[in-house]
Amino acid sequence: MSTSVGFLSSIAPSACPLHDRRSGAAPCRRLIRSRVSCHGNGEARQPPPSSLLMDRRDVLIALGGLTGGAAAAGKMALAAPVMPPDLSTCHDASSSGLGDNLKCCPPYTSADIVDYTFPDTPLRVRRAAQEVIKDSDYMDKYKEAVRKMKELPDDHPWNFYQQALIHCAYCNEAYDQVGFPTVPVQVHYSWLFLPWHRYYLHFYERILGKLIDDDTFTLPFWNFDSGDGMTMPEIFTADTSSPLYNANRDTSHYSPAILDYKYSYGNTAGSGETGSALVLTNLCTMKKTFKESLPLAELFMGDPLRAGQEADTSNGPGQLESIHNAVHMWVGTPDSPHIDMGDFSTAGKDCIFFSLHSNVDRLWHIYRTFRGNKTEFNDPDWLDSTFIFYDENEQVVRVKVRDCLKPNKLRYTYEEVPIPWMNKLNCVKTTETKEKTKAELSLVRVGAFGSEPRELSKTALRVMVSRPKKSRKKAEKEDKVEVVQIKDIAVDTDGPARFDVYIAAPYGDLAGPDYGDFAGTFVRLPHKGKGKKRKGALKLGITSLLEDLEAEDAEKLVVTLVPRIGEFTIGGVAIKLLQTDNPRLV
Ligand code: C2O
Repeated sequence: MSTSVGFLSSIAPSACPLHDRRSGAAPCRRLIRSRVSCHGNGEARQPPPSSLLMDRRDVLIALGGLTGGAAAAGKMALAAPVMPPDLSTCHDASSSGLGDNLKCCPPYTSADIVDYTFPDTPLRVRRAAQEVIKDSDYMDKYKEAVRKMKELPDDHPWNFYQQALIHCAYCNEAYDQVGFPTVPVQVHYSWLFLPWHRYYLHFYERILGKLIDDDTFTLPFWNFDSGDGMTMPEIFTADTSSPLYNANRDTSHYSPAILDYKYSYGNTAGSGETGSALVLTNLCTMKKTFKESLPLAELFMGDPLRAGQEADTSNGPGQLESIHNAVHMWVGTPDSPHIDMGDFSTAGKDCIFFSLHSNVDRLWHIYRTFRGNKTEFNDPDWLDSTFIFYDENEQVVRVKVRDCLKPNKLRYTYEEVPIPWMNKLNCVKTTETKEKTKAELSLVRVGAFGSEPRELSKTALRVMVSRPKKSRKKAEKEDKVEVVQIKDIAVDTDGPARFDVYIAAPYGDLAGPDYGDFAGTFVRLPHKGKGKKRKGALKLGITSLLEDLEAEDAEKLVVTLVPRIGEFTIGGVAIKLLQTDNPRLV
């Protein structure tokens, strides 16, 4: 146990002589109890940050930043970062599969919270799962660390299952946003997704390292964007007696089965490809995802989410998050409730979670590098969004998004492995065809979306959508990206849900039998439903897709929404030009 004298001195000198950790004597559990009783004695606690937040809102209102119009529309544009939860008000969480009484609160709900002291250690290098399997020393350490984590007392914040509950608490609505008691804290479906998970992994990794007294320990990454990493890593599957093993999975997906980015339960969405064809399709999807989203961060990372905003009302996840959701489904049990990986409340119980997220994090790192390390959202509401974790020194700490943007600050990096989707790939058009014969007879009239919401369940929804501008010049494309927007997506979140979006050029007013090219996807894991229909949105870049389709001169496009699982109501489909945030890299 570290003594961490340096930052202890910065703890507010509460009348509560908590945990004099300087002595290094008191065990962690004792410390936590003393904190609890401290709270019970009514000792001073930090004022909730909501007052600050409201001040800022007042200022914004005074400056005209919050318009009455927006408020009247019922969508108050709150300009404020999402604040860390008030741990003392943590309550039961819920998931559609596991019910409403999930106990996901951390055991340190009234802890003193300090700003995190970033590690000052040698750079740690995360390696690919298919590489570390050959390193028996590493594997022994990893297993030993996880075994120790599992053996900690149940209520120890470092305990394996307590660590998994962190994900449940932040994702299954155990917290309400401070100052907005009806709005849950949610770290999916928005620009918070990547930074929150980066921190979650960081502390998890540091704790594992601490348990085996190894400051260099790193989690392996599941290199699912490479042909040799596209199976479930054998470090998690080969040995059922390993501490890394988890029985709650779809074992039919164990190696040699190849991951399908288009998977949803019971539904291999693509064209039923296997083997190298499936690998190529996945690589092409990854390549396209990067290519289309490099000019505009929200396409990759998700939409803004500000204090007081519900995460899945009008905004939406980025494409990296959607692909990651499909991987969750592919690992989790195929039958409902889709534990462990298929349900946010249980996902952290599978060690594979942390390797999936290592790679998601690595892909973010690559994305950022491609963009010359440009800050993705130069917006204090993102940069100052704040989370709380239990750190490797047994201290409850707060961390801000702005401090995790460079992995170097957290003292880790990724081993360089080949990035095959960067190569020239022969990405054939992802043709989804009802019938391949007699194409000319299969031309169908496709109308506009219309002004009313439309159902999307068993059959594909095809609409003709006008483009704001055709035959755009290179300079125009560098200035603005073309995106297809699917608005007001309502879905019964009790179950898993997925639809895919395809784009084709029409023949006059008619659509061919071919759905055209895959533009992206909307994937939800089962969440908390109770029949409540949540709304989300989807935004997909199509600038280079139209070049591939040679459709730049088309006035209209046929947009096809292909339901894979679940039932949706769609509010509208539009094509817009959005200002790029990264002009020089288009
Ligand atoms: Cu918080 Cu992979 O999800």
